[in-house]
Amino acid sequence: MAIIPVGIIMNGVTGRMGTNQHLIRSILAIRKQGGVQLPNGDAIMPEPVLVGRQEHKLKGLAEAHGLTRWSTDLDACLADPSNIIYFDAQMTTFRVNSIRKAIAAGKHIYCEKPTASSFEESIELASLATEAGVKNGVVQDKLFLPGLMKLKRLVNSGFFGKILSVRMEFGYWVFEGDWQPGQRPSWNYRKEDGGGIIVDMFAHWRYVLDNLFGQVRSVSCLGVTHIPKRWDETGKPYDCTADDAAYATLELEGGIVVQANSSWTVRVNREDLLTIQVDGTEGSAVAGLRDCKAQHRVNTCKPVWNPDIPNPFDFRSQWDEVPDNQLFDNGFKVQWEMFLKHIVEDTPFPWDLLEGAKGTQLSELALQSWEERRWIDVPELTIQGGTAHAAAQK
Ligand SMILES: NC(=O)c1ccc[n+]([C@@H]2O[C@H](COP(=O)([O-])OP(=O)(O)OC[C@H]3O[C@@H](n4cnc5c(N)ncnc54)[C@H](O)[C@@H]3O)[C@@H](O)[C@H]2O)c1
Repeated sequence: MAIIPVGIIMNGVTGRMGTNQHLIRSILAIRKQGGVQLPNGDAIMPEPVLVGRQEHKLKGLAEAHGLTRWSTDLDACLADPSNIIYFDAQMTTFRVNSIRKAIAAGKHIYCEKPTASSFEESIELASLATEAGVKNGVVQDKLFLPGLMKLKRLVNSGFFGKILSVRMEFGYWVFEGDWQPGQRPSWNYRKEDGGGIIVDMFAHWRYVLDNLFGQVRSVSCLGVTHIPKRWDETGKPYDCTADDAAYATLELEGGIVVQANSSWTVRVNREDLLTIQVDGTEGSAVAGLRDCKAQHRVNTCKPVWNPDIPNPFDFRSQWDEVPDNQLFDNGFKVQWEMFLKHIVEDTPFPWDLLEGAKGTQLSELALQSWEERRWIDVPELTIQGGTAHAAAQK
């Protein structure tokens, strides 16, 4: 049994996502389990080098986890041939330049979403990676949430019949930072720093909808900045220049209607931070992050509108839990394992930079829809001759 070392430059690893999801819960967890096992008994062992701007933070993080490789010199890490993957979880606005450099250095690319702050830069990255022939992938973690995997199982089984509509309710109250610290980074609320809920969440909604229900064809979106002033990590007040809520309607291929509410200014009165209700001719389901419940047409009650009497139905009790039927590992880790196998064994990995660019495309069109107060069609995105193209807008 051979150990196959794979050097990974992890840039932006001191951030919220970089440290928790990518370093601790993915790369370190994979190292702890003995690597990614291959069918022939070999194992892929990720060998991270932690990269960032602040020496003391990197050193502290490396030491806390028994790692020896860290650096503030990205160019030197890119010049080291033992590092074959470049991973990026920096603030979105810093991603493009670093990925451009990493592609030029011949590294395979894996990165957080959104892949860039603009659609133009996102398709540029997809094109550059294709031209250079480097493998590439984008984090699409929501696809690996147990609740959404159960939903996908229902879709694949034909449970819904014809899917009519999808209602997505996402959000929670993000504290303003004055009398309680905010639980998200302050740049999320500044447009000039790559913030805004549309840029952040529509990158997720694109792959969730495309992969579960059908290609997104058009979007209508109203964004709002409900809270105009917040307090940053140092307690300093700042003006919020980015949207903190978005109320959108989308149409998918086959005429499926989607309503998607995304908000950092809503108090939760539902079973999870994200719930997705799907209604079809044969049945309906509601998924949260981990759970999913379903109601078949034969179990559907027949309410009659009558506010003069107390409601005779306990609606929530009329749904059946979809069972786990499998073990669910951390979604970020599962996707890392797939990407590492893709690099070493050339197994399929469909969520590449072009798929990532589709997320940025949807965010940008949703922002345009808001600005122009109209529906916008979503042009198909393809790579031809090494260059990404958006079909002409209808
Ligand atoms: N997949 C998901 O569910 C998910 C969730 C949250 C965030 N994200 C994405 O992950 C990325 C990081 O988000 P986060 O919430 O971890 O943010 P964060 O603010 O916690 O971390 C940002 C990282 O960027 C680095 N950084 C900050 N300023 C920089 C600068 N001037 N130059 C270079 N690097 C700088 C920081 O040191 C830190 O390592 C974003 O692109 C975000 O969209 C993805």
